[in-house]
Amino acid sequence: MDLAIKQLHPLFVAELRGIDLGRDIGPATQQAVEHAMNEYAVCVLPEQALDDERQIAFSRLYGPLENASAVKSQRKAGVIGQRIRHPEIFDVSNLDENGKIMSGDDARWIYRQANELWHSDSSFRQKSSTWSLLHARIVPPVGGDTYFADTRAAYDALPEAMKKRLQNLVAEHSIWHSRSLRGGYTPTDEERAARPPARHPLVRRHPGSGRNALFIASHASHIVGWPVDEGRALLGELMAFATDRRFVYVHNWRVGDLVIWDNRCTLHRASPFPSSEHMREMHRTTIIDTQGDVPAAA
Ligand code: OGA
Ligand code: MN
Repeated sequence: MDLAIKQLHPLFVAELRGIDLGRDIGPATQQAVEHAMNEYAVCVLPEQALDDERQIAFSRLYGPLENASAVKSQRKAGVIGQRIRHPEIFDVSNLDENGKIMSGDDARWIYRQANELWHSDSSFRQKSSTWSLLHARIVPPVGGDTYFADTRAAYDALPEAMKKRLQNLVAEHSIWHSRSLRGGYTPTDEERAARPPARHPLVRRHPGSGRNALFIASHASHIVGWPVDEGRALLGELMAFATDRRFVYVHNWRVGDLVIWDNRCTLHRASPFPSSEHMREMHRTTIIDTQGDVPAAA
């Protein structure tokens, strides 16, 4: 292995070259990726010719994978099953079951556009996720960048009084909260029941680096034990702070990029592109956080 690491942002994000995920990697490479992730929190691996099987096999080296099957409308329409055969693959595309561009009022597309809000994948689950791995198969000629924010750096930069105020606060997260922010998608009772809210501390320790990180964003609906309005105001203030330009890296995709991010210490959001004219096809795998919330370091 001839690993070259180039940092892409003053605070986080590295590009890793010299790894070919098209073949089996050994333990040294596996560990090198883990070390880089612990330090940089977002890693870009360019020019990876991955199919779904390869992406799943590589992702599984780092833990069990979430299933995308909760999104019933996709399964029913046969997107997962026909176009994508593996339940471990989240379809982050504007394509229907036949590989054609979806119409702008397709419920699946409206549902997916909530990705344009800052979020941490699966924070609405009690067992949320460690890493997400997103592989670019088709990218549009303009737009469709992904924004990442470093919530360890944001936490570090908070005034001491705010750090004290956040101690022991717990937020409730729900997928239906983030969906309601955009409107346009009404869950069925079955969908609601399948995805109840989850509770997580506002500040958690990131195990790989030992640093504290804010755990917030669009699924976080309120603070447990506080009046809803007050909790939302604090969450809004923290979000504005954490997504300030100095904490943000913007990724402009090339076909073949595999970007891995740590959901425990970063936030991300999609950005618009001319989605009725151009295809964008991205496949995501998501690793389940079996360890669960780690208390903040004092
Ligand atoms: C995701 C996601 C952003 C994008 O795959 O989890 O939020 O730009 N993607 O597609
Ligand atoms: Mn996401």
